[in-house]
Amino acid sequence: MPARLHLRLLLRLAVAAPALPARVTWFHARALCVAISRHDHFTLRSMAAPHQLVVLVRLARGRRRVVELGTATGWTAAALALADPRRTVITCDPNVQPGRDRYLRLLSPATCARIALLRTTGLAAATLDAQPVDVLFVDASHERQATVDEWRAWRPRLAPGGIVIFHDYDHPDFPGVAQAVAELGLTGEQRAGMFVWRAPR
Ligand SMILES: C[S@@+](CC[C@H](N)C(=O)[O-])C[C@H]1O[C@@H](n2cnc3c(N)ncnc32)[C@H](O)[C@@H]1O
Repeated sequence: MPARLHLRLLLRLAVAAPALPARVTWFHARALCVAISRHDHFTLRSMAAPHQLVVLVRLARGRRRVVELGTATGWTAAALALADPRRTVITCDPNVQPGRDRYLRLLSPATCARIALLRTTGLAAATLDAQPVDVLFVDASHERQATVDEWRAWRPRLAPGGIVIFHDYDHPDFPGVAQAVAELGLTGEQRAGMFVWRAPR
């Protein structure tokens, strides 16, 4: 990955930083340095970008129970846990991506304790616990049928007024996300390349 791209990643964080909680910026900056020094191209390409974190953190404000489908190396789970000390983040991924623990070690034990890492698919995770969910962040396979199935499995679990955020909604490499949203007939808003659906109160 060329130095120009590293610089762009750092600049994007610098631009987003004023709108992010300082704890989130500090984590993201240190994680970026580790990823760049370790040539962790997977993480640098797959993580939610800083301007998307700004939107995610705002949407999740005041919402305690967050579920993420697609942990990857845990950066978004960490950001959402850091943004609110009363929040619990449950995140699932059937694949434990290399380096995940290295990034999670940047968190305090107390913050780590609020992140539940499940080694399973987003679909299977929906059956594991029955508590209502305030925010569902869908960032897993990005395939149409899997995304439709995940939404159907998690919809009954959403708290009144809960939100579902589909990452990569307008990403040309992942047409399955927009196809799933269309197939489900969801109406919502687009924010920073993500699709946001709100459950009635
Ligand atoms: C784009 S990355 C997620 C990035 C992460 N949300 C972040 O912002 O840092 C997608 C992840 O979804 C995982 N994945 C693929 N299929 C999945 C499924 N059916 N359920 C849950 N996770 C899945 C992959 O293993 C990969 O780690």
